[in-house]
Amino acid sequence: MRRKNCRFTVYLLLVLFSIPHVYAEEQIQQLKVIDLKADYEKDPIGIDFIPQLSWRLESGQRGLTQTAYHIIIASSLEKLDAGNGDIWDSGKINSSQSTGIYHDNWKLKSRQRYYWKVKAWQNEGTASDWSEPAFFETGLLGQEEWLSGWIGYVPGMPGRVQYFKGTLYPREKIKQARAYISGLGYYELYINRKKVGNNVLDPAQSSYGTRVYYVTYDIADYLLQAPNSFVIPVAQGWLGSPRLRIQVEITYQDDTTEILTSDRFRSVTTGPIKYSTIFDGEHYDARLENPQIYEPGVPPGLMNQEWAWAHNTDDPAGKMVSQRVEPIRIVEEITPTLLKEPAPGIYVFDAGRNLAGWASLRVKGDAGTKISLRFAETLHENGSVNQENLRNAKATDTYILNGKGVETWEPAYTYHGFRYVQVEGLPSKPLEEDIRIKVARSDLKQSGKFKSSNPLLNDIHQMVVNTEASNLHSVPTDCPQRDERMGWLNDLTVRIEQAIYNFDHSRFYPKYLQDVSDTQDAHGTITCVAPFRFGMRPADPVSASYLLLAQKSYEFYGNKRVIEEHFDGMKAWVDYLNSRTNNGIVDYSYYGDWCPPRDFLMDPNGSGVSRDTPGQFISTGYLYYCANLLSDMAKVIGRETDVTRYKALAKEILLAINREYWNEQTGGYAANNQACNSFALYLGLPDETKAPRVIKNLVEDVKKHDYHLTTGNLCTKYLLEVLTEQGHHDVAYKIATQTTYPSWGFMLANGATTLWERWEYLTGDAMNSHNHPMMGSVGSWFYKYILGIIPDFNHPGFAQFSIKPYIMGDLQFAEGELDTVKGKIKSAWRRQGNNLTMEIGIPENTTAIVHVPGKSVRDITEGDRKISTVKEISVLEEAKDYVILKVGSGNYQFKSSI
Ligand code: BGC
Repeated sequence: MRRKNCRFTVYLLLVLFSIPHVYAEEQIQQLKVIDLKADYEKDPIGIDFIPQLSWRLESGQRGLTQTAYHIIIASSLEKLDAGNGDIWDSGKINSSQSTGIYHDNWKLKSRQRYYWKVKAWQNEGTASDWSEPAFFETGLLGQEEWLSGWIGYVPGMPGRVQYFKGTLYPREKIKQARAYISGLGYYELYINRKKVGNNVLDPAQSSYGTRVYYVTYDIADYLLQAPNSFVIPVAQGWLGSPRLRIQVEITYQDDTTEILTSDRFRSVTTGPIKYSTIFDGEHYDARLENPQIYEPGVPPGLMNQEWAWAHNTDDPAGKMVSQRVEPIRIVEEITPTLLKEPAPGIYVFDAGRNLAGWASLRVKGDAGTKISLRFAETLHENGSVNQENLRNAKATDTYILNGKGVETWEPAYTYHGFRYVQVEGLPSKPLEEDIRIKVARSDLKQSGKFKSSNPLLNDIHQMVVNTEASNLHSVPTDCPQRDERMGWLNDLTVRIEQAIYNFDHSRFYPKYLQDVSDTQDAHGTITCVAPFRFGMRPADPVSASYLLLAQKSYEFYGNKRVIEEHFDGMKAWVDYLNSRTNNGIVDYSYYGDWCPPRDFLMDPNGSGVSRDTPGQFISTGYLYYCANLLSDMAKVIGRETDVTRYKALAKEILLAINREYWNEQTGGYAANNQACNSFALYLGLPDETKAPRVIKNLVEDVKKHDYHLTTGNLCTKYLLEVLTEQGHHDVAYKIATQTTYPSWGFMLANGATTLWERWEYLTGDAMNSHNHPMMGSVGSWFYKYILGIIPDFNHPGFAQFSIKPYIMGDLQFAEGELDTVKGKIKSAWRRQGNNLTMEIGIPENTTAIVHVPGKSVRDITEGDRKISTVKEISVLEEAKDYVILKVGSGNYQFKSSI
């Protein structure tokens, strides 16, 4: 009996001791380092700076944090495999950081591929295996590596698309081939008649006098061991007159190299694209197609009626910079419905929603038949397209048939904002498939999802997403259709958060921040739009977007470098605004809280300036906001003097605004309207004695307008957020779910699929875009307050964040997610009577501060267990209406009573 017992004890001990061991082994297998990115891109080629490295962790475990990492970067795959980090061997670094890692001492050379891998340790002490290898390849690191300059045929072929041509005669077997290329305004590269890559409308816009983006292509697969023809049609795009700069670099099997500079592409001619402009559209004459253009070899008899010789030009003067933003691509194709034949032979197609892109055409008919496609957002009563609100943009493509059977065509260098296409001149009634809609935009990944029990909110969300998606064209444009399409910084101030929840802007915003910075002059002024093609200098002081681009890139993506690089510029802008103050009040404003509902406009038939909300109040509020943002960012990069200096400036401005705009009698700011009071509360202008009065006034004003807003592009954001945070989420909910004018529901009720520029339904020759993101800040309110996902600036890159959903209105459930640099965050809740179920997903290597709606920790369970028994959860506080928990990674299901 004793022996038996003894054996049992030994057995038990064995089991006990072996469990941790097995567990540890399991962990080793489970923890994986994945999703390696260099400057937020997987295996990029052509980068011309030291990239920031990032990765994610994957494991099935809860409560996982990274305690250390080890990175090896090597100049060849063999070295990497052998663990020889000749570029960098970090050794084991005790840190949870997994984004924004780089070192200035990595010695990178041009045209070199670098391989890297990562190993990570987790809190239990065990390590992952090495990750799969990743790489990044450099482009041309110095300007001197561009062996030739820009070429163009400046005086000739006015308005025409110019086709540049060159030939490569390989002298050996080709081992590697790269093309470094930029053509302004827009270009495409064809090798042996085949288009290289799937970028469209390249290069990304920039201030061409400062920088021009080039793209690096691996062209090896396009080349033959025979004469190869290169044809590069270049359209005027945003530049106006075509220019080309190209360098093709071939490495042969014997390791000799050959470089074709722009010099080898001087033969230039015109072709079937007679002209193509962004606003007016493209004109293509298929009778002018000339297969000879694509034949290898120098065209005979150069400088004749057909061919000219491109000359060197000294513009654009900007430096060549590798294009690191997602290119514009065709992201979706739609077969439209054939809606109407408003007059004989005129057909109107409906894409089903407003969007940006163009249409392709399939047709058969006689040579010389001219087809036109006219694009518009709305229809006249008779069903024909209404282009009046496009101002002077003609938005019309034309195609002339060559008569050689079935012809298919689509434009290359223009795009339109439209829902309807009117096709005229067809030889016979078309089939629906004869027109295909091509949706084109900067190919950013959608990062957020949102759904709720209220279909109206879901439709608003979709409308916001459609609008944002229509306005990503290498800059965040204001609209895609009329003669504008500019990156307006005033709109962007309230758009950034919406956009960053819906799409992955880790590369797009740093690029755009550079665009803004490129407009800055010696006085620190920036311009109303970037690149500067419209509006004023200095920009409206509401352009806090300059700072927010950096602040949000840091907060969402852990990108500290943008703060380091742009700090002095942002500071110069804030100093400039400060130099424009009198007694602490900024002395100018152009737009302020732009485009409130018509009754609140200075001139109901004029521009969008508010009648009541003083522009200088808004301008000064933004100076206060920016001074604080700058101080916070100074802290991140250790600029201690600036931390104090801009906090002090903020304090000064705060006193000035309160002195100038606080009204003791009314208990509100400036006009005591929704805009002024919500902005004041958002900024934290009132102290505890003033704040309750301001909130009361704000709520009363909303009620006075029967739960409608009276705000414009900026303060609409603050209105919803402030009401929600001040305990009036049901008031905010009523505003958001209105269906009568002015509201998002009113837009939907009037057939909108994208947001309007005005709260009114307007058509005609005036400012009334139907695809304008500036009123879309409700889009971030869904994520921030209904799902409750909020990042933490002090723990950037979602190292820590909070989840705090507000259970509001008649909502029964809400669910959604956000794909972050650490992985997917999930937030969902559902209520049944007083019972609430909340499900959340927290990515590895993050911690969430979770606010579970409920009264007491005793009423809350996780996975049907008491909270106190779950080791990944610690209780922080029982607050009003919420129990606040600190939760490690993993999936959780909470139940509570509310
Ligand atoms: C743009 C708006 C911008 C406004 C400022 C308009 O033309 O479309 O988005 O807010 O100008 O004046």
